[in-house]
Amino acid sequence: MTSDQPNAVPPGIDPDRLARLLDRERLTWIEAHPKAAALRERARRSQLHGTPQHWINQFPPPVPLTVERAAGARLYDTDGHEYVDFGLAGTAALWGHDHPAIVAAIRDQVGKGSVTLWSHEDHVWVTEELHRRFGPPFWGFTVSASDANRFALLLAKMATGRQKILMFNRAYHGSLEQTAAVLTPDGVVPQPGVELNGVDVRETTKIVEFNDLDALEKALAPGDVAAVLAEPVMTNGGAVIRPEPGFHAALRDVTRRTGTLLIIDETQTIPAGPGGCTREFGLNPDLITMGKCIAGGVPAGVYGMSAEVAAAASAYTKSGDGGLGSTMASGPLAVRAMRAVLGEVMTEETYAHMDRLADRYERDVSAVIARHDLPWHVGRLGGRVSFAFTPDPPRDAGELYPRVGGSMRDALWLYMANRGIVLNAMSGAALMSPLTAEADVERHGALFADAINELTGGKGR
Ligand SMILES: Cc1ncc(COP(=O)(O)O)c(C=O)c1O
Repeated sequence: MTSDQPNAVPPGIDPDRLARLLDRERLTWIEAHPKAAALRERARRSQLHGTPQHWINQFPPPVPLTVERAAGARLYDTDGHEYVDFGLAGTAALWGHDHPAIVAAIRDQVGKGSVTLWSHEDHVWVTEELHRRFGPPFWGFTVSASDANRFALLLAKMATGRQKILMFNRAYHGSLEQTAAVLTPDGVVPQPGVELNGVDVRETTKIVEFNDLDALEKALAPGDVAAVLAEPVMTNGGAVIRPEPGFHAALRDVTRRTGTLLIIDETQTIPAGPGGCTREFGLNPDLITMGKCIAGGVPAGVYGMSAEVAAAASAYTKSGDGGLGSTMASGPLAVRAMRAVLGEVMTEETYAHMDRLADRYERDVSAVIARHDLPWHVGRLGGRVSFAFTPDPPRDAGELYPRVGGSMRDALWLYMANRGIVLNAMSGAALMSPLTAEADVERHGALFADAINELTGGKGR
């Protein structure tokens, strides 16, 4: 990777063709979305950058996609367009937008109370099921995956009496002050565009590259790190980055030897299987976190912990509030939805369907890449597929920086969206839901072939 331009053209793509296609697709989008544009102008007067979350402003479409309704694995916008949704809210809508089992559970529960601050049999069912699937015996509820990670880190600090944490470079674990950091040749610095916010990450956060066991050993050797917070497979670093053989065993070993706790963040890796990567790989973390799709669209997160962590943190959690919790966490609406997800949706059949479609999607994209001799690779984790502009899967996310291909991703996103397909707006990744149809995947494959033909000048084999 030679360029330091995020918008540098990826290898194999004709820059003039890319610029022309991007201009054309932007114009097409603007012309097709007059109502969304008018709403955007209205929103500018009451929302930061005219979007409900500031980052939507950075997504590829020049006028934000303005969704009136979502159903199945489809979105319907204010200007009357229909889209196949492969973005699925970045895993938050992994099961589709109106899975019948989840809709039925929510409809029933909403008439019986949404928030009570008391216990219900559903809580017990859900925590027993989480224990059965993922391992840790004790579980707590939050409103989001960000909060699950925040509380897991807090519990790890209580249990160890240490304050520092360790994460892998370019990982994302939600909106947490202590993980908004990256590793540079000058050491750990705040993530670009993030203010220190009272937490000096240069002091609180150690970062090493994924798969770098030597660096991990050195960083943990002083015995001052409360926990390693890790995705089991990196999904947020610009590609699907897999652990090398033996990595997880070594990670577990070094954390144990140095009295460091291990937190596995399964938030994005649920598409790997009904027990996430924890079950697929046979992991044995001290704490585990997840959120997003776990309550099928009702905001929720969960964190699990070992009996040892529970005991070590109990001095804090038995009295006072320990800094954990939210009145909105563990409401019966969210927990009923979780019961439906765990009991009726996260089944072997669901995963078999997602896997079959992801296989097809992967084959289509790989065939086009091969036909045009593009030095890119396709990454896959169960129902999740993405491609990146390096010939081989990277060993760590640092290899993908400085980034290239931003304008290529924008162009592809717009090309697809103008033709009725929505991909993840940040990464271009695709997720298969139980409500995604084979015909949707087929359509993506044909459009991807057309787009790449146009961008390479049709020089494929
Ligand atoms: C791995 C991982 N953990 C945690 C989070 C935080 O999720 P949320 O934004 O829903 O709190 C994300 C969000 O993308 C994530 O990718």
